[in-house]
Amino acid sequence: MTTIIHNAKQLITCASPDGKPKRGAAMRDLGLIEDGALVIEDGSIAAVGTTADILATYSANELIDAAGKVVCPGFVDCHTHAVYAGDRLDEFEQRIQGATYMELLAAGGGIVSTMQATRAASLSELIDQSLPRLDTMLRHGTTTAEIKTGYGLNTFHELKQLRAIEMLAASHPLDIVPTFLGAHAIPPEHRAVHDAYLEHVIVDSLPAVADWIRRIRDAGARFTSRSAWGGVPVYVDVFVEDGVFSVDNAQLLWAAARHYGLQIKAHVDEFTALGGVSAAVEIGAVSVDHLDVTTDAEIAVLAASDTIGVILPAVNFNLGSPHYANARGMLDAGAIVALATDLNPGSAPCYSMPFVMAIACRYQKLSPAETLNASTINAAHAIGLGDRVGSLEVGKQADVLIVDAPDYRALMYEFGTNLVHTVIKRGEVV
Ligand code: NIG
Ligand code: FE
Repeated sequence: MTTIIHNAKQLITCASPDGKPKRGAAMRDLGLIEDGALVIEDGSIAAVGTTADILATYSANELIDAAGKVVCPGFVDCHTHAVYAGDRLDEFEQRIQGATYMELLAAGGGIVSTMQATRAASLSELIDQSLPRLDTMLRHGTTTAEIKTGYGLNTFHELKQLRAIEMLAASHPLDIVPTFLGAHAIPPEHRAVHDAYLEHVIVDSLPAVADWIRRIRDAGARFTSRSAWGGVPVYVDVFVEDGVFSVDNAQLLWAAARHYGLQIKAHVDEFTALGGVSAAVEIGAVSVDHLDVTTDAEIAVLAASDTIGVILPAVNFNLGSPHYANARGMLDAGAIVALATDLNPGSAPCYSMPFVMAIACRYQKLSPAETLNASTINAAHAIGLGDRVGSLEVGKQADVLIVDAPDYRALMYEFGTNLVHTVIKRGEVV
């Protein structure tokens, strides 16, 4: 089966010539081809070029005319908490009246209130509530997503979240990368002895997660046609913040994660700068996420490393904060930067990568091209899939968007609308 998309006003490849994540000047290069075309064979990209060249060389069973439109890679949302039950509508109103996000958490709400709803939900209820979220993401152009646990906060319910992620991945067109975030908050039953919960995560939950990974890897054959679980990485994440987990706590967790061969991500510097970036870089974390209050010294540490800084500006927007992460400073210092929604019921009920790009352009002074590279190729690297998705290059999965605009900058310029016209996942219009 050969499909050709042709006549694209702009074909944006986001190709990275060396196969690595982009930094510095490469972030401003989108690999843009005017009047571009793309050949898809059996779900993969077989050729990329100008319409004239491609039509002279290839013939197709199916032709898709993208006249007057932009063709670009599907977005990779590399940081979400999309599997949860319930909502936080009441807290939304409380925050409007002045309560802060951390006050609500300290008072037993916030993440803990979503934990209560998630524990109360059965596996099938959790899946039923989460599935429409993935559909919404797909409609807004996200074709690959990372999803974290972190609302179970004990072994049984964290595993239930992982199984929900597993079953969603097996049935939904999105490619999904799972992350174990047992260290997301302290559940009420452990509030008296804070460190007892960390011990539970390390001694009880982590081995169970390792067993689950072994099982899904062994079952790889059943998954390969859709999600190729065999090669999908699984991460361990932790919320490093005052009153939640310290850098010392995180280091204990990371040592245990390494013991099970798992890779590391961390929520750091969202509200308080605790030195989490240096610690995470030292252990070789794949990404550090949030970075809202990261110091210049730690930005320099990040820039000198291969750890990816994942910026989540929908959080600042949603919390009504005038302060945003210094993403411009990070890019200028040479750090690898990616963007994500952080989709979750508290700090970011946001499904749209174009909306995130729109914020990053306005409040963080990233150029439209920088935000697009940060939402595709760099985001793919942030979840270990940089060799499969995130750019339109020969051999990669055909995850392609047709955008209803003649110029890619419309994606960031217009907001409050959805310009994504067609979503193609593994070569098929979904
Ligand atoms: O990335 N800050 C910690 N965790 C999430 C929020 C989760 C929630 O509020 O439910 C975040 O912002
Ligand atoms: Fe998060």
